[in-house]
Amino acid sequence: MDGSMDIDGEIVDDGSSFTGIVPTFITPNNLTRFHLYEKIELSGEKGVYRFRCLLKDTRSIPESTLIRMLMSWECLYIHKQELGDYDQYLKDNLHIILANDSIAMEKRSLLFSDICSEVIQGVLKENFGVSSLGPKTLTSLNDLVLKAIGFISNIDSLKGLATLIGHDYETHIHSIKVGWLMAIFVKANPHLFAVSGRASFEKLVVEATVMGFLHDIGKAKIPSRVLNKKGRLNNLEYVAIQAHTAYSVSLLFESNFPKYVMEGILYHHENEDGSGYPCRLKQDEIPLFAKICHIADVFDALTSKRPYKASKTPYEALAIMTGVNPKLDILQQMENEVWETGAAPVSVVVRNEKNPDIRRLKHESRLNKEAEKRVEARVKLRDRGMSHCFDSELLKAFVLTLNRSESFDFSTLI
Ligand SMILES: [Fe+2]
Ligand SMILES: [Fe+2]
Repeated sequence: MDGSMDIDGEIVDDGSSFTGIVPTFITPNNLTRFHLYEKIELSGEKGVYRFRCLLKDTRSIPESTLIRMLMSWECLYIHKQELGDYDQYLKDNLHIILANDSIAMEKRSLLFSDICSEVIQGVLKENFGVSSLGPKTLTSLNDLVLKAIGFISNIDSLKGLATLIGHDYETHIHSIKVGWLMAIFVKANPHLFAVSGRASFEKLVVEATVMGFLHDIGKAKIPSRVLNKKGRLNNLEYVAIQAHTAYSVSLLFESNFPKYVMEGILYHHENEDGSGYPCRLKQDEIPLFAKICHIADVFDALTSKRPYKASKTPYEALAIMTGVNPKLDILQQMENEVWETGAAPVSVVVRNEKNPDIRRLKHESRLNKEAEKRVEARVKLRDRGMSHCFDSELLKAFVLTLNRSESFDFSTLI
């Protein structure tokens, strides 16, 4: 901080040194690590403000007075040099903030997804060069889930989750939504799980959530050129992406996660009819957690925006997921080709070009175009119905669970 400024008193600034925060995020029991300011416009001077320090030591104010004060301010400001302390404060008090019903659901949801994003992005970065996920990272993720589980497993939080639906697809945001959907689904359907006792069930809800958060961490091992490709993936890239499930479990090998969590991650792309990957399991061969994760995963993928495709609405996504595909035989044939050859099918090889370099380039571009066309056809075909991919009873339970939130109306699908 500028030495000439007095952090306890007033600071005259153009606003760039401060950031606005939600006053009700401040819980009144511990506030000594950073200062809170109000912003006052200076009369006659455009773009210059007076930031007046409001609270420094909350121990000197009765709690009820402090709560009233915090509720009465629309916005408070933190000096950017103290943002680190504020972020840590939010993490430490997350469980209290998320449980505060007087804060709008949307604000609490955004706070949760921001904090969670930071942690999961850290996980994805950490894994680029390592062979297993460090215990410190897992502990911090577990701590975060424990603090947030009461909030994210509550059906009411679907309202907050709904505000995150329809945005651009990013692996870490996708992972948060899949974990969140799993928390809600497992919590709302205890009859599906053979566990006795409340503590065991609560533990299961936490494990399902962590599993959802980590199900795609293996993507950190996939070349970013493939992972972040703006266009559709060709067949070769598609096969490379498929390796992420194995990478995910490999990174978690030393984690001591229960077998059902590891299997849930490994098999979250298996389809009910045996057309999925990595092992082409079908029906009862697919573990329960994997089936649930698969449903949450596809629901989020369909409702997210991609550079090459618009997002579906939650209703459209579930209509596709529950729909019977009229061209299933053709779709299965195409999936088989990818599985068997692992290569982009190409029917015409450019032979007439004499220059070998140009011939190679032409061949490559032909190959890519052909692959693109086939992937496009596969996606279009898939959009005509995907019920063959899912356990019909679980999918029904998933639709019923989401339908319990006022944010969705799937009554015509049920
Ligand atoms: Fe995945
Ligand atoms: Fe996924």
